[in-house]
Amino acid sequence: MVKVTYHGHSALEIRTEDHIILVDPFFTGNKHNEINPAEVKADFIILTHAHGDHIGDTVEIARKNDSLVIAVHELADYMASKGLRVHNMGIGGKRDFPFGRVKFTIAHHSSSIDNGEGHYMGEAAGVVITAGGRTIYHAGDTGLFLDMKLIGEMNHIDLAMLPIGDNFTMGIDDAVKAAEFINAGMVAPMHYNTFPPIETDPEEFRRKVESIGKKCIIMPFGKEIEI
Ligand code: NI
Ligand code: MN
Repeated sequence: MVKVTYHGHSALEIRTEDHIILVDPFFTGNKHNEINPAEVKADFIILTHAHGDHIGDTVEIARKNDSLVIAVHELADYMASKGLRVHNMGIGGKRDFPFGRVKFTIAHHSSSIDNGEGHYMGEAAGVVITAGGRTIYHAGDTGLFLDMKLIGEMNHIDLAMLPIGDNFTMGIDDAVKAAEFINAGMVAPMHYNTFPPIETDPEEFRRKVESIGKKCIIMPFGKEIEI
């Protein structure tokens, strides 16, 4: 069992018995987040890509907690240049960590630093995380891709976090097709209603996912759920 808390946008907190893992910890400027980034604890931070709404508060949190930042090569190097402990990975590679396993997947998106430096940060990714006997697929920011079928065939996904906000990522109908491909025990929408271009109705997503016979949970912001 693991405990997961969705903090809005793409920010996911995963707690095992011994470790706290954050994915894309965008807290400052995230209107759905209710926790103070200065008080956040993290042993590991996994980043899908470098956009500001994904790296978020990584540097501050990792400095304070001495967290290990796990990311694709170029982004990991960038975080190392900020003085953080990092582990570099590439898409398709997997690695065991004290909490479990991380495998990066493709994502159809871009990855660059938004802070005016504009640097190329390698490929955007999704990530399959296995911890506490559960497997979570966090798709990152991505358009729909057929290889999601492979991700579903080669992993027993308990929870799939899929972006539905459209404009920058899949919209609802593409994300429903993704849910069909991945065939997860549970699907949850993310990357919606944080900014005007990604306003959408998660209830419509839930209805459409259920209409194809899959389970969907609209994860309440900041509430811990056991999976
Ligand atoms: Ni992005
Ligand atoms: Mn994004």
